[in-house]
Order: sequence, then structure tokens, then C-alpha cells
Amino acid sequence: MSAAAPLLAVRDLRVVIGGRHILHGVDLDVAAAGVTALLGRNGAGKTTTVRGILGLVPRTGSVLLGGEQTVRLATHALVRRGIGYAPEDRGVFAGLTVAENLRLAERRGAGEPAYDLVHELFPELRQRARQAAGTLSGGQQQMVAIGRTLLNGNRLIIADEPTKGLAPRVVTEVAGVLERAAQAVPVLLVEQNLSMVRRLAEHCVVLADGRTSHRGPAAALLADPEAMRRLLGVGRAGGAPTGTDRFEKGGV
Ligand SMILES: Nc1ncnc2c1ncn2[C@@H]1O[C@H](COP(=O)(O)OP(=O)(O)O)[C@@H](O)[C@H]1O
Ligand SMILES: [Mg+2]
Repeated sequence: MSAAAPLLAVRDLRVVIGGRHILHGVDLDVAAAGVTALLGRNGAGKTTTVRGILGLVPRTGSVLLGGEQTVRLATHALVRRGIGYAPEDRGVFAGLTVAENLRLAERRGAGEPAYDLVHELFPELRQRARQAAGTLSGGQQQMVAIGRTLLNGNRLIIADEPTKGLAPRVVTEVAGVLERAAQAVPVLLVEQNLSMVRRLAEHCVVLADGRTSHRGPAAALLADPEAMRRLLGVGRAGGAPTGTDRFEKGGV
């Protein structure tokens, strides 16, 4: 952990859905700058953690945003406090243009929308303003999804698996998108692509079965094959990575 106070501090986050305990004690800090990666096998509880932070599912525990307790706040109140969310499915409206998608994300009371910042980071979004979002590449759609989170002067961006299902070349494009975004705003990045984590993340948090199993510097974890195997099931003890792990390696 960095010496500076974290922007977001989650402690003992618990989520029960339909009587089923999905999260039973997630602890994580998001640093006040750069990218913090949230890792874990498929089904570990990463998306539920993000949805819990955002109040999209009922949750208990402690979620401090800039020191303020937010665990009892509704989603709209959290959004007003400056959390931008790029969900797992991107949430881009295919039939609307790029400009319309951005306009829909403008938030009243958040001041002048930061189109200058969005267009400076992603000039393509200006060039393609009148193009239907459904005709964009996967990487360009991620630019829309991330661009939207930058419009309203947010303090934190949460991106859930932005590279999921993308070709390696597009993964590289999305890495650049997030790298640029993280220069403006701290990012909590849910990610399965370890090349992305290596390139972007300073800190990482690993979940297993709805709990935090590891927190620390990303580089130290990535450099430790035994920990990678134990925490993420990547590779075999003392051997090369298997072809069956869900964690992808290419593309950045
Ligand atoms: N709305 C829900 N109802 C019931 N079970 C759910 C719901 N959302 C997630 N789960 C279950 O919770 C576990 C964690 O899911 P999720 O947070 O999506 O994991 P991850 O994002 O790490 O792949 C999985 O077993 C999933 O099936
Ligand atoms: Mg998920």
C-alpha cells in the first residue's frame, strides 16, 4: 500500500443475494492515483464487489470514499459523489451515435461536461461523433464507455473487464485508453488479462470465493509464480503456464 490515504477503502464487504452469500469479507483499497487491479478467477466475486461498492446490490460492511462512509448510500448518490462506472457489458447504446452516447452520460449539477478532456484523450471520439456506436470496433466502444466516465469530473473510475472478448490488437488499444484515463483519474480495474495488469497496475487485490485472498504491489505478485499459481491458478508449480487457465497473456 502506498503511504498516501487511499481514495476508496472497502472493509468486510458482504453481499447476500437470494439467500446466497456471494461476498463474505472483501477488503480493498484503491490508491489515490493510477490503476489498482482487482483480480480473481471467474466467479470469485469481482463484479459483485464492484456492484456492491456502487450500491447496485444490497451490501454491508464499510466503504469509505475519500473518508466518507458510503455503504448505506443509494447508487444515484454514489454517482453524484463522483464514481464513474464502465460495466462488464460496456453499456454502450448501439443505435445511438457516439455524441448521443456521451450526451446521455452528462450529469446535471456536475458542472460543465469535460468534453475537452475526453476529446484530448480520445480524438477518435470527436472524429466519429456522428457514427452509430454499434458500428465502432470493440476498442472504440471502450473509448465511449471510458470517455463517458470522464465527462463529469469523477474522482474514481471503475472498469469491469474492459478487454473481455477483444482481439489482442484491440486489447492493446484499450490498454492505451485506460493508461490515458488513469493519468486524469484513479482507476479500479477488474481484469483477467495479465499483460494489462503488468502494463497498467501499481497495486492489486485478489479475490477467491467471495473474499480477499491477497493485496499488494502488482509487480511483486506477477513476479512470483508460486503465488500466481496459488492465488489465481495460473501456471503449475515450477512449470510453464497451462493452456487451460482463463487468464490471458497476449495483446499488450
Ligand atoms: N444476481 C445474482 N444472483 C445469484 N448469484 C449471483 C448473482 N450475481 C453473481 N452471482 C454469483 O456470485 C458469484 C460471483 O459472481 P461475480 O461477482 O459475477 O464473479 P466474477 O466477476 O469474479 O466472475 C458467482 O458464483 C455468480 O454465479
Ligand atoms: Mg465479472
